[in-house]
Amino acid sequence: MDYQLSANDKICKHFGSCGGCSFQDVPYKEQVLCKEESIRQLMRIYGIDCALMPINSYNEWFYRNKMEFSFGQKEGISCGLYKKASHGELIDISECLIFSKDAGVILKAIKEFFTVKGNSVHNKFSHKGFLRNLILRETKFTNELMLGLVTTSSEELDKEGFLNMLKGLNLNSTLKSVYWIVNDSLSDAVVFEKKELLFGESFIEEKLDEFKFKIAIDSFFQVNPLAQKNLYGKIRDYAKLEKCENVLDLFCGGGSIGIFLAGMAKFVWGVEVSQPIVDCAWQNAKENNIENISFFTADARAFLNTQGAFYKNVDVLIINPPRCGLSNKIIRAILRLNPKTIIYSSCNPDTLFSNLKELSVAYKPQLIEPFDFFPHTPHLETLVLLKQITS
Ligand SMILES: C[S@@+](CC[C@H](N)C(=O)[O-])C[C@H]1O[C@@H](n2cnc3c(N)ncnc32)[C@H](O)[C@@H]1O
Repeated sequence: MDYQLSANDKICKHFGSCGGCSFQDVPYKEQVLCKEESIRQLMRIYGIDCALMPINSYNEWFYRNKMEFSFGQKEGISCGLYKKASHGELIDISECLIFSKDAGVILKAIKEFFTVKGNSVHNKFSHKGFLRNLILRETKFTNELMLGLVTTSSEELDKEGFLNMLKGLNLNSTLKSVYWIVNDSLSDAVVFEKKELLFGESFIEEKLDEFKFKIAIDSFFQVNPLAQKNLYGKIRDYAKLEKCENVLDLFCGGGSIGIFLAGMAKFVWGVEVSQPIVDCAWQNAKENNIENISFFTADARAFLNTQGAFYKNVDVLIINPPRCGLSNKIIRAILRLNPKTIIYSSCNPDTLFSNLKELSVAYKPQLIEPFDFFPHTPHLETLVLLKQITS
């Protein structure tokens, strides 16, 4: 099924109730201007004086590569997203314009399948019932689809019937991987207690420029691959590597920034706290024949204060932390590390600017460049190039 978006029907039918995106009724050009202005305001508040590059914006619709839906019970089986600021009210989703053209078809077929089978829905208060979540991942350059059904172990899954139903769907993307994840935990989050590959490959593969990245059902990958590819290209431009620099990629995830830079660097180290994600990073490096890269499984602060303390020759430091940004202790460790250039990419402007202020004792921002990774939401990715202040 294909979507024909005309100027009049751009607003998703769930807009207003679904908590997924909150700005769809603001014309996209205005959203972008507002985001740019929010960065200008932070620059004024924190007294940061450097060039503000124009905001980069790309695909307004169908940009996300991952969604995690929940099952609910409301006039039959529903599957969707929680209503904004509600205490567990689920919106039954039949389309998602920021994710995939295939979302509606898949959700409808799955709800019908389990209604006919008579499976029950898990209740997060009583902790009884079977169906919990549906994870969908879709690569945007290679059009591969991965599906993860999350249930408790309380009922039988008709695996064969489930797969036959999925294989019979008329989809734009190619179904490459189907997992069944069993999660009996009391936690509301998806916990991968047991996962079984029911069909296809254990990874789907995204292609960013000449690089291939394997994406597992439970691995981190930036949500907007087109914007991500452009952000990494800019990081490579601003790093101005000449094959003689050592690069440290803190919070490296699956190693993708380091892999983009390795061809122009002497050596790249990546630091990431999660072992499965580091495994993925090694696999990505191998897949792309990158040999001048190495990964450490470590907490960033602990690394900087132990092994990192011996790396006195880091020329370029890449920082891409979670929303909480950098703690005071990490900032102090970075100041001790003393790299000439820092490239900081952040998904939270508030923590980013507070960190820039703390780094300003030794580093001056040269330019700030926002990237609209998340159209129709208030979120923004921001890249900053910092240079060491020389007296
Ligand atoms: C925003 S993601 C960045 C991933 C990567 N740079 C990319 O572009 O795909 C942040 C990463 O930091 C990792 N992380 C979170 N806390 C950490 C810590 N204290 N030390 C090291 N890594 C951490 C997360 O597991 C996640 O993979």
